[in-house]
Amino acid sequence: MEHLIDTETRGPLGIIRMQRPPVNALGFALRSAISEAHRAFEADPEIKATVLTGNGRFFSAGADITEFDTGRKKPYLTDLIAQLEEGTKPVVVVINGIAYGGGFELSLGCDYIYLLPGAKLAFPEINLGNIPGAGGTQKLPRLIGGPKALDIILTGTPIDASTALELGIAEAIVADEEEALVGITEAVEAGMPRRRIRDLSVPGAPDELDIAAEPHLRRSRCALAVLKGIDAVRMSYSEPIDEALAWERETFQELNASSQARAQRHIFFAERSARKIEDVPANTPLRPMENAGIIGAGTMGTGIAMCFANAGIPVCVIEQEQDRLDQGLARVRQTYETMRDRGRISAEDAEERIRLVTGAVDLAAVARADIVVEAVFEAMDVKRDVFARLDAVCKPGAILATNTSTLDINKIAAATDRPQDVIGLHFFSPAHIMKLLEVVRADETGKDVIATAMALGQHIGKIPVLVGVCDGFAGNRIFINFNREAQILIEEGALPWQVDKVFTDWGLAMGPLSVMDLAGLDVGYRIRQARGSQTPYPFTTADRLAEAGRYGQKTGRGWYLYPEGARRGSPDPEVEKLIEDVSREKGITRRPVSDEEILHRCLWQLVNTGYQIVEEGIAQRTSDLDVIFVNGYGWPRTRGGPMFYARETGLARVAADVSRYYEEIGPHWKPSALLLEEAKSASA
Ligand code: NAI
Repeated sequence: MEHLIDTETRGPLGIIRMQRPPVNALGFALRSAISEAHRAFEADPEIKATVLTGNGRFFSAGADITEFDTGRKKPYLTDLIAQLEEGTKPVVVVINGIAYGGGFELSLGCDYIYLLPGAKLAFPEINLGNIPGAGGTQKLPRLIGGPKALDIILTGTPIDASTALELGIAEAIVADEEEALVGITEAVEAGMPRRRIRDLSVPGAPDELDIAAEPHLRRSRCALAVLKGIDAVRMSYSEPIDEALAWERETFQELNASSQARAQRHIFFAERSARKIEDVPANTPLRPMENAGIIGAGTMGTGIAMCFANAGIPVCVIEQEQDRLDQGLARVRQTYETMRDRGRISAEDAEERIRLVTGAVDLAAVARADIVVEAVFEAMDVKRDVFARLDAVCKPGAILATNTSTLDINKIAAATDRPQDVIGLHFFSPAHIMKLLEVVRADETGKDVIATAMALGQHIGKIPVLVGVCDGFAGNRIFINFNREAQILIEEGALPWQVDKVFTDWGLAMGPLSVMDLAGLDVGYRIRQARGSQTPYPFTTADRLAEAGRYGQKTGRGWYLYPEGARRGSPDPEVEKLIEDVSREKGITRRPVSDEEILHRCLWQLVNTGYQIVEEGIAQRTSDLDVIFVNGYGWPRTRGGPMFYARETGLARVAADVSRYYEEIGPHWKPSALLLEEAKSASA
């Protein structure tokens, strides 16, 4: 049999050390081994208490996910926990490292919790659309009260040893296992009583929970697991524990089988596979990334500078004029001070980050930088000029990145004698907040530069996705087609508020027209004007609104009216009239458009473009596009992204709709060959 635990007796203690690499996942064999060892210590009259601990970095990362597919065998984790609780002798857990999910729940089945300094506790189930299912929702509130338990259950954020101690989860933090064992022996010899967490009652009043639940509900966007998590913690106040535990277990199973959990599992694995690059081996040597330069202290430049500073990397921002530089640096300072004032970061962190962002008006200041990110005006001649000058001053081997959102990076790279060092790093606005980073590979970008950019992205807390050069790269190219379909539907007979409602009901934080109002209609208008006839379908209504000075929220009027600085728009009869005029001019007889048609036409447009992008090799895989939409475009994780949604709906149906729209609506519906092929093999 596999060697899964070590056992040892020491004075009055029977010690069980989990030894199942790599993470002490609580699979059947490990559960059985713990159960047997505990039983043996229970039967041994010399032993007065059992100690349970892990090894290395891990106490236990929780369930064994391979059992989700292969099926589980008894003893289940809940059986093992019940056994520890029903025994006659106290069980003390020494959490040596990561205790996540089931690992944390196993600890809550013990009488007392000791922590080593490296302990980390979390319930990450919420990230996969679920709640803890082995007692976590009932026992944690009993230990630390409903509101704090709810935060841990609904955020999935790990807490460290000192926070856990402060919250009252643990008895003590001890330097090492030895110190823990000495302390536990003393306590046992002094007559350590049993203290089953399940027998405690929840401190505080239930209405505190309603207040604590409110912000979670506001942010939940119909996530079932959030609602169930709140119900579960509420039950800990009122229901007998065995009934509540049965409900929790059943709810866990139900959520596990739900489409939301499926979607969240998909996006979880999609984010991991997005890191893999087909032709760049994982062991590609990385270039150093110890200091950075940014060119341009505008909106993006300052945001990107903060990303580096947040990760502890010193960064120098270059501007053309001292005034603009000062303004940019003042914005950085102000952002950090606001974060400090709101308690998001400590005063020391704020100071340190402000210190890490320096500035200069001379490009030579980035001569020693390992990486330079250019974020100047979006104009090819300006960017080429910057890159030619960077080529002259930067040290050999420096990575030269551009944050362009529309320009051809091959042409930018050609302004240097080192195109192998040039790459796109497409941050999304606000750059210090948005998770998505499109890493844009140009024709000659070196593999080590790609590998370094992907690693850097992760290091600065982003979710990097590799894409290729094309107009709009992956995200914006897809998103513009989604928006275009919304425009066409409006000209055919839908109204902006109907379109937006379809998408907010579906789970988006905002509909496409409200997004345009937020971003400013002048932005898209200027781009369309600059491109002239290259725009494949005229955004006539949007252009008319921009020409009338209706730029959106910032002017109080756009697709909607925003009286007195309101952030939510209200429908405007003037816009309705303007839309009707446009339809009339185009000879379109307006008709009622169903919500379903709006949903499917906008989404399938997006999905078809997504397949085209994969077909062209601009993105490596369809799941990367889901990662892009979830992390850069506010797509709900509970839907798993648009490409996943298409698969869930059935690719055969999607392909049939797309082919029909191609015949009925126009050439922009030309079905992607890859979509047709995958639809065929999916239905075969
Ligand atoms: P911005 O206009 O706020 O900032 C550009 C800054 O660059 C200005 O402060 C300007 O003085 C400075 N600058 C211009 N030429 C320079 C030079 N030769 N040397 C040093 N500084 C110079 O523009 P924003 O919005 O920050 O955009 C910058 C880049 O980021 C553009 O390429 C844009 O397409 C891209 N981008 C913008 C996004 C956005 O939402 N604003 C999103 C993603 C990318």
